[in-house]
Amino acid sequence: MMKLIHILFLSSILILSSCNREDERGIDDILSKMTLQEKIGQMSQLNGENINHNQRFIQKIQDGMVGSVLNSTNPTEVNEIQRIAVEESRLGIPIIFGRDVIHGFKTIFPINVGLAASFNPELIQNSARVWAEEAYQSGVRWTFAPMVDLSRDPRWGRLAESFGEDPYLVTTMGLAVNKGFQQKQSDGLLYMATCAKHFAAYGAVEGGKDYNTVSVPLIELHNVHFRPFKALSDSGVNTFMTSFTEVNGVPASGNKFLLVDILRDSWGFNGFVVSDWGSIKEQITHGYALNTEDAAYKSLVAGVDMEMASTTYVNHIDKLIAEGKISISLIDEAVRRILQLKYNLGLFDNPYVEEISSNNKEKHLALAKEASIQSMVLLKNNDNTLPLNKDIKRLAVVGPMANDRYEQLGTWVFDGDTNLTITPLMALQSFLGTEKIAYTKALKTTRDNNLSGISKAVSVSSSADAILVVVGEESILVGEAHCRANLDLPGAQNELIKKLSETGKPIVLVIMTSRPLTIGNILPMADAVIYAWHPGTMGGPALVDILFGEVSPSGKLPVTFPKAPGQIPIYYSHKNTGRPASKDTWQPMEDIPARPIQTSLGNSNHYMDIGYEPLFPFGYGLSYTNFEYSDPELTSDKMTFDKGIDISTTITNTGDYDADEIVQLYIRDVTASITRPVKELKGFKRVHLLSGETKKVTFSINSSDLAFFNEVGEEIIEEGNFHVWIGANSDAKQKVEFELLKSK
Ligand code: GLC
Repeated sequence: MMKLIHILFLSSILILSSCNREDERGIDDILSKMTLQEKIGQMSQLNGENINHNQRFIQKIQDGMVGSVLNSTNPTEVNEIQRIAVEESRLGIPIIFGRDVIHGFKTIFPINVGLAASFNPELIQNSARVWAEEAYQSGVRWTFAPMVDLSRDPRWGRLAESFGEDPYLVTTMGLAVNKGFQQKQSDGLLYMATCAKHFAAYGAVEGGKDYNTVSVPLIELHNVHFRPFKALSDSGVNTFMTSFTEVNGVPASGNKFLLVDILRDSWGFNGFVVSDWGSIKEQITHGYALNTEDAAYKSLVAGVDMEMASTTYVNHIDKLIAEGKISISLIDEAVRRILQLKYNLGLFDNPYVEEISSNNKEKHLALAKEASIQSMVLLKNNDNTLPLNKDIKRLAVVGPMANDRYEQLGTWVFDGDTNLTITPLMALQSFLGTEKIAYTKALKTTRDNNLSGISKAVSVSSSADAILVVVGEESILVGEAHCRANLDLPGAQNELIKKLSETGKPIVLVIMTSRPLTIGNILPMADAVIYAWHPGTMGGPALVDILFGEVSPSGKLPVTFPKAPGQIPIYYSHKNTGRPASKDTWQPMEDIPARPIQTSLGNSNHYMDIGYEPLFPFGYGLSYTNFEYSDPELTSDKMTFDKGIDISTTITNTGDYDADEIVQLYIRDVTASITRPVKELKGFKRVHLLSGETKKVTFSINSSDLAFFNEVGEEIIEEGNFHVWIGANSDAKQKVEFELLKSK
């Protein structure tokens, strides 16, 4: 028997390697036939143009000067562009079509920061499979996702498409998206290639202002920002995309340290690197490149294989080669990586969009609804205002986001089908009946400062048993380049909420946006608050299921909520500092007696006016029930480098509702050769508990979970004392300790 298995194993290796060998033979063969111009063409990605009567664009394709096209999603147009490439260019090399498929394609799922709130990687992986299926049918074969920039700054508009502030959560979600997109066809070929972006540390833009300077110490790059990218490189993400910003003085698209020293030499990444839109040319504006030729040179040497949208490669590589500044081997390496991906996608054999009519729309909508349900976070629920009674006689529905099929989708929804969107108002009307609902938008947009609609909102609500207020940010207020210095609800939304709260009726506040907002001033005005994020196509039905208790909310915050913008950057995994703040060291500024003697009052790292705590901590989210946690228990209080331990707790659902709880594991390395965060998320599990049910939840950890990077970028594990918490959020108090030893 063993002999047979051994033969099967060897033959499988031979098949796989012969498959690679066939690719290699094929690629070598093509490369040997390509002119320099045709090689340069493969390294050029152009924005899709209307192909009709566009002779200039057609000629480029016929000349083999277009290796990739982005933003063409009409299958007929895609096939026509592809036909020209395959049938009318000299070597017939197929084009790879790219698109930002970020949180859905036709069916839009919650925005990424909302998806992260589900803390459910399996759900995210299944969601990405749906996104891939829908995009594939439009001819997209390469998505510019997952975006795995961490962000600790809600002013940054692109926090929306991130999975939040934490390396462990962002990594887990990024891997899930990558795996979902990279589902294989029956012959092992890819449906969809993926792209880790934006390398690197784009989320650390100064001041949360997009495109701004990024200065991050090497220690923080390795221990925080690189982690999801390294994991994706290890997991076989197909491509990387550079970022617009400079990173420590060198623009990412010309940053050899990032793209060669780290990505190639240290991590061994063998896919290809594409620049972000025009970022090669922008090296001139950064003050890093003299001109477009110099920009092309710097990016080539730094390891950018394909240029998106700008044309410095097409315009200058032949001269750089002729002058001996760039070797043809560098070009061949880049082209080989690009051709390899086209092979892996099967484009040489099947270059055209297959007109496969998938009748999975209902399945996609159902999954989008489930993702929306699991992403919503219950922030407040005084006196069990929620769930609402299904027999409610009259519900007032008010607000600019209550019935907007476009705005609730959020950013990065170019291909979203708004006809599929079901808004909260639509879902409520079908659930309760139109006659039970009194609706008014009150404000034209979320930015509207015209108060005239508020009085109508108050009068419309006068006969209601409860008021549902749906507010937030229109999609244009989040996403790329859309940063805000002030994080209150925009427009007159706060005034609207205030006036409605003065009616004395129960207020259920639903906030649709893609960033933490400073909502501390309006929290007291609402009896219940649900953070729905931009919930996507099925946000309405998802909200109704939660509002009326079909399901208990289970979402947890993937980002810390500040009380004020002045607290930013604010995140749970901060350092302890030499003078950590606590309730003993901070008193409200108002309580300080007049004319106190001049001392360093408080003596700790806090703000005199708002203290040191966030509005809501990372990992926070309420349920319709209550969960009681026992103190964590360890299988041993000693761990060695080669023998891990288990950490467990028992959780009891002491309330009346069956519900999911996301149990979180945090660890602190108390003393190390570099300072370590006060807490780091090292695991989480979703458990379902019936009312009254108790379950034991166990996490296994080993020394590799405790590794970190030192000041020279070496990953190390050190002996020492560790604290460990298991709880419902990053503010967990129940702690136990263990010691890590090299060996017993
Ligand atoms: C954009 C974004 C990037 C996107 C690319 C193509 O400017 O920065 O995330 O993938 O251009 O649309």
